[in-house]
Amino acid sequence: MPSKITIVGAGNVGAMTALWLAERELGDIVMVDIPQVDGMPQGKALDLMQAGPVLRYDTRITGTIDYGPTENSDVVVITAGVPRKPGMSREDLVSVNQQIISEVISQIVPRSPNAILLVVTNPLDTMTYLAYKLSGFPKQRVVGQSGILDGARFRTFIAMELGVSVESIHAFVLGGHGDEMVPIPRYSDVAGIPITELLPPERIAALVERTRQGGGEIVKLLKTGSAYYAPGASVAAMVEAILKDKKLVLPCSAYLEGEYGLRDIFFGVPVTLGRGGAEKVWEITLTLQERTMLNKSADLIRSTMAALKF
Ligand code: NAI
Ligand code: 2OP
Repeated sequence: MPSKITIVGAGNVGAMTALWLAERELGDIVMVDIPQVDGMPQGKALDLMQAGPVLRYDTRITGTIDYGPTENSDVVVITAGVPRKPGMSREDLVSVNQQIISEVISQIVPRSPNAILLVVTNPLDTMTYLAYKLSGFPKQRVVGQSGILDGARFRTFIAMELGVSVESIHAFVLGGHGDEMVPIPRYSDVAGIPITELLPPERIAALVERTRQGGGEIVKLLKTGSAYYAPGASVAAMVEAILKDKKLVLPCSAYLEGEYGLRDIFFGVPVTLGRGGAEKVWEITLTLQERTMLNKSADLIRSTMAALKF
C-alpha cells in the first residue's frame, strides 16, 4: 500500500507542496479544500497529474472538497488558512486561522487517527499548538514547518554574500517563525567553517536581519499573498524525512516540556524527524545573548497564544 499524504488547503503553498511531493513519488496525494472553491482542488490535481508524463512521476493526486478520500492518511499537511497581506504580521492572522484549524482538525482526526500532523498555517507556532491541543495526538505526531524555510533563507543570503553554492552552507535558525526568530551565526557554516570566521559582524547582522524579515520581504513584493515556492519545498523535505524515516535533524516547531527552559509551547528547535514524527528534541548550548533572544521570541509566541480562544 502506498503512503497517503493529505494536503489541506489547495492554495499556493498546498499546490506547490503537492508538486514537490509528486516528483518524489512518496505516496498518493489528496488535496482538500472548502466547498466555496469547488473545482479548484480538482483542477489543480488534474493539472499536476498531467505534469507527470513530462516530469516522469506516476503519483496519484486527488483534488476534493470532501474529506472522505483523506481517510487513513499517514501525513496530513495543513496549509489551510489566510496568508498575510502587506502590513500584516503573522500574528494578525490568529483569530481567522484559529477557526480554520479547528474545523480542519475536527475533520481530520476521526478519519486519520494515526497521522502525523504537519502544520504550515500562520501564526505557525500558535497554530501548531492549537492543532496539538485539539487533536489530542501525542506531541511527537504534531510538528510545524518553520526553521527549514528560515534556514534556507539564511543560507541563500550567506551564499549570495560569499559567492558560493548554497549546498556548501549549513545554517541554523531557532525560535518562533516570526520577526523575533533567532538565526544562530555561530552554528552556521560554509563547509564546516563558521560564518563568524568568514564575515565581519556588521555583515552577519545584516544577513540575520534580512532573514528575520525574509517572509515580509516577499509579501511586500508580491502584494497579494506570501511566499510559496520555498515554503512548499521545505514542507516536502519534512514529509520525505518522515515517510522515509530518515532521522534528519532539522529545525522544526516542536512541543517543549522544559527544553531550553520553555514549557507548554511549540517552538523552533532542532529535532530528529522520522516515521514517528518529531522523535527527539536536541538541546544545544547557547550563549546568554542567544538565550535572551530565544526568550524574547518565546514571549512573542506566548502573546499570540493568549489570543487563542478555547
Ligand atoms: P492561499 O490563500 O493560497 O491558500 C490557502 C487555502 O486554504 C485556500 O485555497 C483556501 O480556500 C483554503 N482554506 C481556507 N479555509 C479552509 C478550510 N477550512 N479547510 C480547507 N481549506 C481551507 O494561502 P497560502 O499562500 O497557501 O498560505 C497558506 C497558509 O500558510 C497561510 O496561513 C500562510 O501564512 C501560511 N504560510 C506559512 C509558512 C510557513 O513557513 N509556516 C510559509 C508560507 C505560508
Ligand atoms: C513566510 O515566512 C509568510 O510565513 C510565511 O514566508
